[in-house]
Formats: sequence, C-alpha cells, structure tokens
Amino acid sequence: MHIQVLTNDWPGYQLLDSGNRRKLEQFGPVRLIRSEPKAWWKPSLPDSEWHLAAAVHEDDNREGRWRFLRPGPKEWEISFEQLRFQLRFMDNSKQIGLFPEQSPHWRWLLDQKISSATPEENRPRVLNLFGYTGAASLACARAGWHVTHVDASKPAVAWGRRNQELSDLADAPIRWILEDAGKFVQREARRGNQYDAILLDPPAFGRGPNNELWKIERDLPPLLDLCRQILSPRARFILLTVYTIDASSILCHNLLQQMTADRGGKITIGELTHQEKTSRRHLPLSLWGRWEL
Ligand SMILES: C[S@@+](CC[C@H](N)C(=O)[O-])C[C@H]1O[C@@H](n2cnc3c(N)ncnc32)[C@H](O)[C@@H]1O
Repeated sequence: MHIQVLTNDWPGYQLLDSGNRRKLEQFGPVRLIRSEPKAWWKPSLPDSEWHLAAAVHEDDNREGRWRFLRPGPKEWEISFEQLRFQLRFMDNSKQIGLFPEQSPHWRWLLDQKISSATPEENRPRVLNLFGYTGAASLACARAGWHVTHVDASKPAVAWGRRNQELSDLADAPIRWILEDAGKFVQREARRGNQYDAILLDPPAFGRGPNNELWKIERDLPPLLDLCRQILSPRARFILLTVYTIDASSILCHNLLQQMTADRGGKITIGELTHQEKTSRRHLPLSLWGRWEL
C-alpha cells in the first residue's frame, strides 16, 4: 500500500495558525477565521495575529454567520496556476468557494495532459461528482479532457461556470449538470455512457436538488458500484476524497481495490493537510485514494 501526506504548497493560500477548534487563514489578500473541528490543540501565534483577520465565521447557531472586523472586499479573485476562481462571503455558509487543501490534486490533474494532437472526438472523458465550484473540473479541462461536472447546488454550478470564464476556458468542453450524483450515474449506466476517469468528493452528509438525502457511509459503496459500471475499458484514474472524521484512508484503498480488481494499476492513499506557515504543524483535513493505470 502506498501512503502519502499531500500538503498544500500554493502561495495564494496559507494556513497561518490553528487551535481551539478554529483556523486563521489567508486567501490572497483576505485573512479570515473559521471553525475547524479537527484543530484540538492550542494556537501557536499570539492573539494580535488573530485580531488582524478581516472576518470571522461564527458557529453559534446551526447555519453560522460572518462577522466583519474591518472594511474589505466581500468578493475577490484568486489564481492557481492558470486557473482563476472567485471567492465570496455567503450569508449562510462558512465555505467561500474553494477547498484549498485539494490543490495537490488540482496540480496532479493539470499534469494529466492530453496531447494537443489528439482529435477532439478522441479526447478522454472525465466525470466529476460532487464537483462544487469546479476547481477540479477546470484543472481537467485545462489538461485537455472532456469534462462532465455534477453537483446538486444551483449556486455552486453557476459559480463553476463563472470560474470557467475567469480561467479563460469559456470554449472548453465542460457539461455543467445540476443533479443528484447517484441519479445521474444510474442514468448514465442505463444509457451505456462511459468515462475514462472519475473524481468523487462527497460530503459526509448532503442533499440532492430534490432534497434526496446523501449519507456517505450508506450511499458511497452503491455509488462506487455504479461508477464501476460506467468506467470505460481505457479508464486511466479514479480519485476519491473523504472528509469524514471517523473513516481511514485504508477504507478508500479497499473501496478502490474492489472497483478496479480486474484492471491492474496502482492505488495510492493518504491525507490532505495544510502546513502552518510559522509552526510547520500539519492540520489534517481530508482522506483520499487514487487508482491510476
Ligand atoms: C465537499 S463539497 C466538494 C468540494 C469540491 N470538489 C472542491 O474540492 O472544491 C461537496 C459538494 O457536494 C454537493 N452535493 C451534496 N449532496 C449531493 C448530491 N446528492 N448529489 C450531488 N452533489 C451533492 C454539494 O452541493 C457540494 O457542492
């Protein structure tokens, strides 16, 4: 089993400090504080550094809300390699449009380049399930893949389209699909449509556009079974990330092994972390597993 810790090394984002179940982050020009259930330890920077934040997300009720501590933009843009994303404070969410711990995966996807000599109709197809605002979809599009992006949230899909324009990829072949991931894959299996790569970044708990309940421990194994059915004979990779605290990356290994038992290839698993700028301490954020041929 190959196990790797992948750490964000992108200057556009920095984890400045964490502790007391909160994190102090720098997204481009904007410094903010959000809750972080995995930060069980004490902060290492003095309070004066935390007081420089422009906004803090307070979790004192179920939805939480942003409290602004100094004047500044409520919407801004940030670049990752050749991609550009809009970030935004939203009324009812601590998410601002990007999960920066995923950046090692975006870099890996950018490296899965398709030769520009490949005719349009032979370009491989990637399916991005639970794709949110499209960072991984745009990395694949930039690498020359045909992309199908599926997410249950209308604002997330609209945001992904906006990021496509900002990234100068307006003409890239990306299908944006607002649908429940399970229902979409079921339909693709019925129609006999196939994909050469699949990305999955499921939340622990979620809702489809028609309020369909998603619970990872119940719904991921059958979804992966369906995904196996729509993998093409020339499939190149599957990338799965899991944010659930009581899982293990070995669980990702076993699920991917089950999906690809008849295909050979290699499985790598591990964690995604942010390393704090000053203390170099790692904040663990996500588990992941990748099968590649
Ligand atoms: C963890 S986020 C994805 C993060 C993103 N891939 C990234 O790295 O930036 C989970 C996404 O799953 C979507 N979602 C939740 N339940 C869903 C369902 N049943 N079908 C499709 N998408 C769903 C949410 O709308 C959200 O955008």
